[in-house]
Amino acid sequence: MAGWPAPQAAMLAAARRALAHAYAPYSKFAVAAVVRGANGKLYAGCNVENAAYPQGWCAETSAIAAMVVDGERRIAEVMVLGRGRELVTPCGGCRQRLREFAGEATPIHICGPRGLRRTFSLGELLPASFGPGNLAKARGKR
Ligand code: THU
Repeated sequence: MAGWPAPQAAMLAAARRALAHAYAPYSKFAVAAVVRGANGKLYAGCNVENAAYPQGWCAETSAIAAMVVDGERRIAEVMVLGRGRELVTPCGGCRQRLREFAGEATPIHICGPRGLRRTFSLGELLPASFGPGNLAKARGKR
């Protein structure tokens, strides 16, 4: 995107490539997501739907899986790209999946066909969240 720093421009380019491969024959709602690991690498994903509708999964889930397979465990930044007029923000389940590997301040860039629409922090999208740290504290108290 014009005027963006290189990392975000590269994320948008990767998201656009992934969007072209989204498998969304049922909803016709293609989504792409890119996570940037703490290692600086980009991991792209798309939604993958299924004839048994509930078995499909989101673009964010694909991108997180690609990151974990590569051995990275920290998300530095997230981008979600979709078409249409409304913001394509991560669903509730994906907010929680992102939370596993990202912090409250992690930026989540929501993009449309013409580029960036809005940036949220993960803390804004998932306030007072439950993460790995909460679990560790509970274990310690036993
Ligand atoms: N979807 C995503 O992949 N990510 C989002 O952030 C929102 C929704 C997908 C799931 C389903 O394949 C389609 O969009 C319609 O809900």
